[in-house]
Amino acid sequence: MKGVLLAGGSGSRLHPLTKVTNKHLLPVGRYPMIYHPLYRFKQAGMKQVLIVTGREHMGDVVNLLGSGGELGMDLTYRVQDEAGGIAQAVSLAENFVGGDRFLTLLGDNMFEDDLSDEAAVFESQSEPARILLKEVAEPKRFGVAVFDEQGNLTGVEEKPAEPKSSYAVTGAYFYTPDVFAVIRGLKPSGRGEYEISDVNDHYIRKRQMTYGILSGAWQDAGTFESYPRANELARDWQLDF
Ligand code: G1P
Repeated sequence: MKGVLLAGGSGSRLHPLTKVTNKHLLPVGRYPMIYHPLYRFKQAGMKQVLIVTGREHMGDVVNLLGSGGELGMDLTYRVQDEAGGIAQAVSLAENFVGGDRFLTLLGDNMFEDDLSDEAAVFESQSEPARILLKEVAEPKRFGVAVFDEQGNLTGVEEKPAEPKSSYAVTGAYFYTPDVFAVIRGLKPSGRGEYEISDVNDHYIRKRQMTYGILSGAWQDAGTFESYPRANELARDWQLDF
């Protein structure tokens, strides 16, 4: 299985911290933010990782990580020219992924869990997609899972004003290469972006989506509320690449 690490976007919610650097290069605990999801890939056995970032800071990202050799990883890079959404960024991975299954992680998501078990579940399932959920206090800031009375996942809603559950969709998405055709069929959302929640909703409606629930802590780091919390969570984490 391969890894696709999304590290684009303008980081506008952290301005001016992100005025001259990429959000994913800001410190979280003892490391630049991007090291954390990168480590989860390595831990789960995915050494081949594609990093997608914007043109402005690609040079800094490459300066930091290089070929990945020092970290025991094999890194490839692609530029996302404009901030067109997470699904658009995933679409840039088509050639890199080839015929393999892959895990996409958002570069501003801090996972306490080792994702190896989840990767193994996805390797052996027949469905083409799997997402990871986490119960949170403020679901409206995220993609939110919708369940029916029997507890079946029936949809995901992107940042709903009135969340129908307290389960956030975390930035960890397992797909097969089938996802690229799904993305080609998407229309941009109200905010003009290609939404990953629309991709996931597509699979849920076709009953082709499975989900897991994270047991460890999870924290995004993309806003002034969440960034200090991510630092607190990862303060003592040692990433032994
Ligand atoms: C994105 C996704 C959202 C997900 C979140 C996780 O939101 O659109 O569905 O729950 O990441 O961090 P963003 O933080 O880009 O607004």
